[in-house]
Amino acid sequence: MSNITIATLMQMKEQGEKIAMLTSYDASFTRQLEEAGIEAILVGDSLGMVIQGQESTLPVGVDDMVYHTRCVARGRQRALLIADMPFMSYSSANQALGTAGRLMKEGGAHMVKLEGGATQLETVHQLTASGIPVCAHLGLLPQSVYKLGGYRVQGRDEEAARVIKEDAMALESAGAKLLVLECVPSSLASAISELLEIPVIGIGAGSGCDGQVLVLYDMLGVSRGRRPRFVKDFLEGAGSVSGAISAYVQAVKNGSFPGPEHSFQ
Ligand code: KIV
Repeated sequence: MSNITIATLMQMKEQGEKIAMLTSYDASFTRQLEEAGIEAILVGDSLGMVIQGQESTLPVGVDDMVYHTRCVARGRQRALLIADMPFMSYSSANQALGTAGRLMKEGGAHMVKLEGGATQLETVHQLTASGIPVCAHLGLLPQSVYKLGGYRVQGRDEEAARVIKEDAMALESAGAKLLVLECVPSSLASAISELLEIPVIGIGAGSGCDGQVLVLYDMLGVSRGRRPRFVKDFLEGAGSVSGAISAYVQAVKNGSFPGPEHSFQ
């Protein structure tokens, strides 16, 4: 089976085939994801919370991300490997080039993800010009949790929705090749997915996106605390970790996940 590339994901969008993405932080889970046929793997800075037990993603460092990306790369066979740039590791375009360079050269990432809209356009442009594919991230930005005042649905009023939509278009024009939309109303996510040529991957953004992503430990029901509305525990009833991951891939592909009960209006 051939490698999944950005071109593969673009083609899937064009053909209306849903893209299945999950986070992973080590080689063993990555092998399970590969066996289930996942197309994209995100080494998310969510590892700060689910692996390191931190209160937020903010304490995660570049060394942490490089280490876990390298672990995942060893278990990867064909999926596109995306690594998060952690908080304060891309405050300028120059700093972003250094961070992305490490994630790709030392970690083996194929693409880097960063959070933010208008303020990141120059950075996205510079990374892209240097041959580094960028996944943008809009909506709920976990690295801005203290600015946002909590993990809340974004883009609910007209003005906030307009800003997210304009940011999405500007990020695509700046060179972003993928967009993660987190915790926004389904109607806004659907409109953005239709508007953009690049694939839009939703988490808490409804079924109208071109693909879905969840934090692996959330969909296996092992994360601590209250389960967010957009998470489904796929281990429940699946009987095994591999069964749960396969059920997730199948549910994303056939459009049964996310249902309205996992989405926001
Ligand atoms: O860090 C992460 O796992 C993420 C996903 C929630 C999209 O950014």
